[in-house]
Amino acid sequence: MKKKIALLAVATAMSAAALGMVAGAEESKGVIGVAMPTQDLQRWNQDGSNMKAQLEEKGYTVDLQYAGNDSATQASQIENMIANGDQLLVVASIDGDSLGTVLAQAKEAGIPVIAYDRLIMNTDAVSYYATFDNYLVGKTQGEYLVEALDLENQDGPFNLEIITGDPGDNNVNFFYGGAMDVLQPYIDEGKLVVPSGQISKEEVATANWATDAAQSRFENILSSNYADGTPLHAVLASNDSTALGVVNALAANYSNDVYPIITGQDCDIANVPHILDGTQAMSVFKDTRALAAKVVEMVDAIMAGGEAPVNDTETYDNGTGIIPSYLCEPIAVTIDNYKEALIDSGYYTEDQLQ
Ligand code: BGC
Repeated sequence: MKKKIALLAVATAMSAAALGMVAGAEESKGVIGVAMPTQDLQRWNQDGSNMKAQLEEKGYTVDLQYAGNDSATQASQIENMIANGDQLLVVASIDGDSLGTVLAQAKEAGIPVIAYDRLIMNTDAVSYYATFDNYLVGKTQGEYLVEALDLENQDGPFNLEIITGDPGDNNVNFFYGGAMDVLQPYIDEGKLVVPSGQISKEEVATANWATDAAQSRFENILSSNYADGTPLHAVLASNDSTALGVVNALAANYSNDVYPIITGQDCDIANVPHILDGTQAMSVFKDTRALAAKVVEMVDAIMAGGEAPVNDTETYDNGTGIIPSYLCEPIAVTIDNYKEALIDSGYYTEDQLQ
C-alpha cells in the first residue's frame, strides 16, 4: 500500500512537471512526446533539437527521448510518455513493426501519433506521417549514377555494388525501390554488372545503418571481387553513414585507377569533406529544419482540434491503410552546389566543414 502511494506521488510529480506546471513556469500549451531513434547518427540529434526548439518556441513542453537504437527501449519510452500524460506523440521509429502494442495504448488514451521520417507499420494508431519524399531520394541517387556513367550512350559494362540500411526501417523500401526502378533496366541490359552478386534488398541491408558494418561488408566485397584489379565504377549507397563505411573500406583495400562514383544521403558533416575531395560524388540533402517546421505546424493544427496539413494521400500505406502524409523535398548535393545548399542556407558554418 505504502509503495503504491509513493509511486502515485512520483507519477503525480512527474506529470505536473511534464505539464509545465512547476512553480514559476509559464502555462504550457501541452506536452509533446518526441521519440527519436539514436544519438549515434548526426541527423537524429539535429531532428531532436530542431523539434524541441521549434515546439518550445510555440509554447509547448517537450518530452524528448533517444532510444540508443533499441526498439524495446523505444517502446518503453513511449509507454512512459503515455503514462506521464503527453498529449501528442511524434515518433521516429527504430523498427517500424515493433510499436503496435504500445501505440494501441496511445490510441486508447486518445493521443494522436505523428510518424516522423519513418513510417510506423501495421498499426491504426498513426494519424499522420511527415517525411521527405523517400522514393525521390532513391530515384535521385539512381539517376545520378545513370548520368555520371552516361549509361544512355555508353555500353559498359560498368561494375556496381549496392548498400542500403536497416531492414526494420520502412524508408529502405523506398530508397532501394526508387533507385532500383532506375538502375534495374541497365542491369537487365548488361550495362551494369554487380560482381558480388549481392543485389536483393536483404543482401544489401546494413543493420542499424552502421558505418562499421558497411565497412566490413565492403572489405569482403573488395577482397573477393576486386583484388585482381577489377575496377569498381559505382556504388549505390542509400545514405551517408553507409557511404562512409564504403569510403573507408576503399581507402585501405582498393588501389585501382578507377575510383567509384558513390552516392549518399543526409549531407552529414563527416561526409562533406569526401564530397569536396571527390571520394564521395554526391549526397541527397534533407533539410531537417524544414521537416521539423512542418511537423510543428502539424502538431499545432492537431492540438487546436483541426486537421494537419498534408500533400500526399496515396503513397504510404502502413498495412492498415493509407496514412495522410506531408512529403518535404530532397535535393541532390555535389561539389557544385554544396556551398549554396549547406552554407549559404545556414545549415552549416564553413568552420564545421573543415
Ligand atoms: C533516414 C535517413 C538516415 C537513415 C539512418 C533513415 O530512415 O531517412 O535520413 O540516413 O535513416 O539514420
